[in-house]
Amino acid sequence: MRVVSGIKPTGNLHLGNYLGAVKQWVAMQEEIQAAGGETMYFIADLHGLTEFIAPAELTANTIEMTATLVAAGIDPERSILFNQTRVPAHSELAWLLNNVARVGWLNRMTQFKDKAGKNREGASVGLYDYPVLMAADVLLYNGTHVPVGEDQKQHLELARDIAAKFNLDYGTELFTQPEPLISAAAPRIMSLRDASAKMSKSNPSEQSVVKLIDSDSVIADKFRKAKTDPDALPDSWEALEGRPEARNLVTIFAALADRTPEDVVAEFAGQGFGQFKPALADLAVAKLGPIRDEMVRLLNDRAAIDAILARGAEKARDLAAPVLADAQRAMGL
Ligand code: ADP
Ligand code: NA
Repeated sequence: MRVVSGIKPTGNLHLGNYLGAVKQWVAMQEEIQAAGGETMYFIADLHGLTEFIAPAELTANTIEMTATLVAAGIDPERSILFNQTRVPAHSELAWLLNNVARVGWLNRMTQFKDKAGKNREGASVGLYDYPVLMAADVLLYNGTHVPVGEDQKQHLELARDIAAKFNLDYGTELFTQPEPLISAAAPRIMSLRDASAKMSKSNPSEQSVVKLIDSDSVIADKFRKAKTDPDALPDSWEALEGRPEARNLVTIFAALADRTPEDVVAEFAGQGFGQFKPALADLAVAKLGPIRDEMVRLLNDRAAIDAILARGAEKARDLAAPVLADAQRAMGL
């Protein structure tokens, strides 16, 4: 079992990114390795180019994402952690796979349609071809499992189709068909000011998004001022139906504490948010504070981050080289 997963280098990671993605990766690192498997995590800086980003910002985001992952618990000694650019085989295999993937397949990708919007003619070729690079990212390591959310399922399906067609066209069994790894535990975190909107770096209000870089007092303040209703917590999770703000805060508490929402509601049953919010603020500071401190320490030690990425890329290149060579040979190159 080899899990391969990438994340685009965006800055300003927030609590939603942490609980919905990064923390799941950390849990997978433990579970997959306990089962004798391997975990590979990469910063998808090549994917970061598909929509224009200022060069300095892309560089800074890659560094920040690396610091965040390590601070949150991805251990570069146990997982292979690297950025795509330092493993040129990603780009090389993507070109080979471009000749296997069909235009009709890419035309069906809904994420391209969503991201390009009405301006399809003005979208970059990279944005259109993104799923082929993603297929290369996984097939290059014979990844067996890819953690995917709803939005990436179609891309993984495409990677499977590309693997099958390559094997068929070139009479080989080189590529493994990767399976989706659905993380049942991944919660969806909503804005602290508008529970109908996902917590996102594009939320309009600063107060609605807890950033991983926030100080303890800012974290506590955002939770204390989070929007809620005047009622006390009921004695069951089901009874929170129709109270989206309350559900969101309970979901966050449970995810941070590694407990079930049912369990958290039972503990606070009958108490109002005057009691629940300070408890949540304390918990968030206790869990996020140490991550932030480690992030800040790493961000001030650029040499350490470079060393982590260099070492990770070296391990990834060793795994990628024979697969790329086999693919080239199979194609007559
Ligand atoms: P944003 O919405 O802030 O732009 P991204 O789209 O860059 O975040 O998402 C990066 C990762 O974080 C993805 O795996 C995504 O599923 C996860 N994620 C983003 N926002 C949330 C959220 N509010 N709750 C749970 N997971 C989230
Ligand atoms: Na997004």
